Amino acid sequence: MRVPFIDLKRIVTPIREQVLADWTECLDNTEFVGGPGVQNLEKKLEAYLETTHVVACANGTDALVIGLQALGIGRGAKVAVPNMTFWSPYEAIVQVGATPVLVDISPRDLQMDFEEFCRGHEKFKFDAAILVHLFGWTSEHLENYREYCKKHNIRLLEDGAQSFGVKKNNRSIYADAEISTISFYPAKVLGAAGDAGAIMTPDPKLAEKIRALCNHGRAGHYTYDYVGWNSRLSGLQARFLNRMIDQIDGMLESRISAETYYQNFFAKHSSDCIVHKAPQGVQSNGYLCVIESIRRTGDELSASLRDDGIGSARTYPQTLCEQPPAQDTLRTSDLKHSKRFSKMVINLPLFAGITMDECKASAESLLKAFKVSVQS
Ligand SMILES: Cc1ncc(COP(=O)(O)O)c(C=O)c1O
Repeated sequence: MRVPFIDLKRIVTPIREQVLADWTECLDNTEFVGGPGVQNLEKKLEAYLETTHVVACANGTDALVIGLQALGIGRGAKVAVPNMTFWSPYEAIVQVGATPVLVDISPRDLQMDFEEFCRGHEKFKFDAAILVHLFGWTSEHLENYREYCKKHNIRLLEDGAQSFGVKKNNRSIYADAEISTISFYPAKVLGAAGDAGAIMTPDPKLAEKIRALCNHGRAGHYTYDYVGWNSRLSGLQARFLNRMIDQIDGMLESRISAETYYQNFFAKHSSDCIVHKAPQGVQSNGYLCVIESIRRTGDELSASLRDDGIGSARTYPQTLCEQPPAQDTLRTSDLKHSKRFSKMVINLPLFAGITMDECKASAESLLKAFKVSVQS
């Protein structure tokens, strides 16, 4: 059986006709940038994410840049960021003119290590931090981060690009963030038909500034309070996202079933791998199946899966400090946990609509790949 790493058609096909009707209406009404679809989406997101203000924007990277700028983070500011994450948070810090400081991950939850972060603050005096809620869950120290940052006057921007639907103690993790961001890149848990993103905050003044920054820093049509960006959401994307969000419960359920299947399957194989999962009290959204191999490298395993017709990914095969533009970046340690993890990680197929037969075929292929290393 061939299994793709991701198959978006399974979630797009059921809403195809509705989306085509919506898009026809957009064309008829020339609803291209902003408009009722965007307003409707922002309202739905406010309810779903349990936040008071949502500002839709063009993508999750702009959301980070604009979020930092809205907090007043720019030249001269030092911003902590985990060494294991997608490149965007690093880019955003550099784009606003600030200085990134790389922090290692905790091998327990794979999120930015809280103790190392606190030690790093004593040394570097952070002005801000980007806490990335990575892999479909969040740090076991989420509240500690929020309290510590508040106490030490560190502006905390929470990157929730991968965490749509994640809850802690039954409450959306976006609900109590000072400011958070999200990406609706098509492969995300809630994905658009192109690029899209949003910025969330409970603070109405901050929300107003964010809205202006997303629209050239505008005060009026040709008057400007800030030097901002053109990061407005297209009406067509908003209409698509409104349809997607209506089927989100089923999509989450499907992802979580697959994640649970993989966890159960590999529970008896702890000498081969660790299947990472959300910390206690955190409800994952099943964004990724994150497997840390004990002996064979992720590259070896993905080659073996490919031979069996099974798609896989390696999130992420290199850490930030190993990317050429980031090699001289300040850091709080030798970053050994993230560097090791990046060599050993392998992600099996996991997407809304995946079947249990596909999960089984993927898991069996990976198990076979682990055993090759035992014999050789
Ligand atoms: C953790 C994280 N932050 C930021 C982004 C950037 O989002 P986008 O691709 O919408 O710019 C992504 C996604 O791709 C991501 O995974």
